[in-house]
Amino acid sequence: MTEHRYEVGFIGAGNMGEALIQGLIQSGHAAERIAIADKSPERIRDLQARYPGLATGDPEELTAHSATLLLAVKPQTLPELAPTLSTAVGEGGPLVLSVAAGITTAQLAGWLGDATRLIRAMPNTPALVGAGVTGLYAAPTAGPEDRATATHLLEAVGRAIWVDDEELMHAVTATSGSGPAYVFLMIEAMQEAAQSLGLPADTALELTLGTLAGATRLAAESDESPAELRHRVTSPGGTTERALQVLEDGDLRELMLRAMTAAADRSRELGR
Ligand SMILES: NC(=O)c1ccc[n+]([C@@H]2O[C@H](COP(=O)([O-])OP(=O)(O)OC[C@H]3O[C@@H](n4cnc5c(N)ncnc54)[C@H](OP(=O)(O)O)[C@@H]3O)[C@@H](O)[C@H]2O)c1
Repeated sequence: MTEHRYEVGFIGAGNMGEALIQGLIQSGHAAERIAIADKSPERIRDLQARYPGLATGDPEELTAHSATLLLAVKPQTLPELAPTLSTAVGEGGPLVLSVAAGITTAQLAGWLGDATRLIRAMPNTPALVGAGVTGLYAAPTAGPEDRATATHLLEAVGRAIWVDDEELMHAVTATSGSGPAYVFLMIEAMQEAAQSLGLPADTALELTLGTLAGATRLAAESDESPAELRHRVTSPGGTTERALQVLEDGDLRELMLRAMTAAADRSRELGR
């Protein structure tokens, strides 16, 4: 088996690229075995200053010398960029792991060549604090070892969950990819409401964050379903029942379905 100079080569080292680089280094991967290519020389210098040892090179070099090539540029950049990498991928080339929202493995294979071992991943921003969750899909060209490599890399920033139908990546995007923003909106709304009820801003935020973190942990660790847990805090005639009635009357479930359907539809559009 070829010994590659780099374990992972990042094409694009913006927000998501950095979250992954940070997670990999913190979980014991050598910075010297991670290489970055980015359009901005300033960005490269900045990352190399913060993660000493990080290697750099142009995209073609990284493609030729990396065991895994991680595509972390914006989706709209790929149609122009990917074909320039095609000579160095394909048979004997790197595993290509793309985090670009909406870009399908068929599109990637069209640009990079049919023999390319391809995996798509949809991480989310809690990856920045090691608490991400990533949905993954492997094209048929990627084997079990490639899947293990991708799981290992993404687990550096949280959990990795596989789906076996690429179409489901739109649902993954709508759930965990965009999901942190729904939670941030919920935090804002709860904090604002708590302030309207008289609490100081910092107390309102602390109570809101503690409640969301605690409830999430309870839901994850309990044997009971979220619905059962909800019933347990809802005594008949009590305060919670009153509040939940308002949320149900406002059709929170229908609103969430519409929001997530809109996200999945946008993901499909990006892949056209
Ligand atoms: N952020 C998220 O929450 C999230 C979640 C899941 C998936 N993703 C996916 O992750 C990918 C990256 O997102 P991001 O938020 O990290 O974007 P970003 O911060 O804009 O990072 C992309 C980086 O790639 C650089 N770049 C652009 N063209 C390049 C080229 N031809 N060669 C090398 N580098 C190039 C950009 O430089 P310039 O800024 O100078 O153009 C930028 O530094 C996207 O495809 C997105 O769909 C993001």
